[in-house]
Amino acid sequence: MMRPVRMRRIVTPIGGLHFGAVATLQQLCFPEDPWSAGVIGQIMGLSGSFGFLAVETSGDGAAAGRSDEDAAAEGVPIGYVLARAMADEAEVISIGVASLLRGRRHGAALLRAAMARAVELGGRRLYLEVAQDNAAAHALYAAAGFVSVGLRPGYYRRGRSVVDALIYRVDLEAGMA
Ligand SMILES: CC(C)(COP(=O)(O)OP(=O)(O)OC[C@H]1O[C@@H](n2cnc3c(N)ncnc32)[C@H](O)[C@@H]1OP(=O)(O)O)[C@@H](O)C(=O)NCCC(=O)NCCS
Repeated sequence: MMRPVRMRRIVTPIGGLHFGAVATLQQLCFPEDPWSAGVIGQIMGLSGSFGFLAVETSGDGAAAGRSDEDAAAEGVPIGYVLARAMADEAEVISIGVASLLRGRRHGAALLRAAMARAVELGGRRLYLEVAQDNAAAHALYAAAGFVSVGLRPGYYRRGRSVVDALIYRVDLEAGMA
């Protein structure tokens, strides 16, 4: 009898080989504002930029002694986060998970990876903006300890109308505890 294949998530730092995969995910998550691989490369080239790609791979590789890096190269990209650290502050530029795989804690894992990296880079607070009508994102950020600290009226376009953005912040020392 065939055994079911166990899938596992690997969260790996974004490198040049990943720009195309990140762009594809970004375009699927944000079709109203799609970014090319070139744009992803530009963002990653900014000083202080960093990012992570989540990849789903079969669990068998670990048993076969494959490194996470090799397993990630062969896996299916399922989510990403792009961020930037400046002095003691950092910001999430973009985060997204493939729609069919949402609700499985991939977003939380990516956010955790970004928070940990921001701390390593000297960040004490992490900021991001989120559309007021994005319930899933609000839930993700609230679960990670973010609090709302401001509002940008009419920041996002929705066809002919606009939606406010909430500015969220997490104190990284408290958020990572
Ligand atoms: C926002 C997004 C990244 C969340 O990713 P995800 O992998 O589905 O989120 P997770 O499974 O890690 O969920 C994290 C938490 O948020 C909650 N959550 C996620 N989606 C939710 C939803 N639709 N409704 C209610 N709660 C939700 C989860 O229950 C979980 O809370 P818990 O830890 O208390 O159980 C994903 O919905 C997405 O890619 N959306 C499109 C792009 C986008 O809007 N990005 C954010 C822009 S600011």
